[in-house]
Amino acid sequence: MESILNIRNVSKIYQSAGRELTVLDQINFSITAGSTVAITGPSGSGKTTLLGLCAGLDQSSSGSVELNQIALEKLNEDERAAVRNKYVGFIFQNFQLLPTLTALENVMVPLELRGAKNIKNQALELLDKVGLVNRSHHYPVQLSGGEQQRVSLARAFSNKPAILFADEPTGNLDAETSEKIIKLLFDLNKDAGTTLVIVTHDLELAARTNRIIKIKGGLIQSDESQSHD
Ligand SMILES: Nc1ncnc2c1ncn2[C@@H]1O[C@H](COP(=O)(O)OP(=O)(O)O)[C@@H](O)[C@H]1O
Ligand SMILES: [Mg+2]
Repeated sequence: MESILNIRNVSKIYQSAGRELTVLDQINFSITAGSTVAITGPSGSGKTTLLGLCAGLDQSSSGSVELNQIALEKLNEDERAAVRNKYVGFIFQNFQLLPTLTALENVMVPLELRGAKNIKNQALELLDKVGLVNRSHHYPVQLSGGEQQRVSLARAFSNKPAILFADEPTGNLDAETSEKIIKLLFDLNKDAGTTLVIVTHDLELAARTNRIIKIKGGLIQSDESQSHD
């Protein structure tokens, strides 16, 4: 099977107050295109850092991150942004919607960046998919956490990403909203073949993926595939 992501000997070391903090220590794994993967581990274990490196939002201290056969460490910031825009969707732990833009405008941003046509209609369709078309003119502060998370999902879907990274997408949501978000994610995987990489503490959500990678203290503790038949 073809892999969409190859992580080889990836380390991330932060310098803080003159000391080195190794957050990720020689991580290795590959992810098959079209699969679903959960990344779990205690708070502070390096999950968000790892996701940022895999998505090309951040750079490793050493090692190689290959996304769709493109070695991200060989690219400059603009080139990495172009790769992200073409292949990657990202759902941030804290949504990261732009506060001065409406829900509709937030979803339109990546479409604009790509120079897409019929941007407004496409964005409305995406908001409709997440059940928020009636809130399209509302600003993030006027939306609940779950609604902001759904706008963030619509925005992440907008470039039809080959791979979608989600950082604790159900972390702050009630059970019903969680279930809606999870369904949207897995539907995207089933219908569009989007590879899903989901950081989560939710064991039920993790159990629905093809594979669970557990990290602890910046190391892979276990990496297990699971079948669902
Ligand atoms: N920019 C940074 N500078 C210094 N330390 C950082 C930075 N970002 C994260 N860390 C540290 O890296 C460790 C892992 O953080 P993170 O990847 O956010 O963990 P998780 O998502 O698993 O909770 C933590 O100890 C955190 O304090
Ligand atoms: Mg985190």
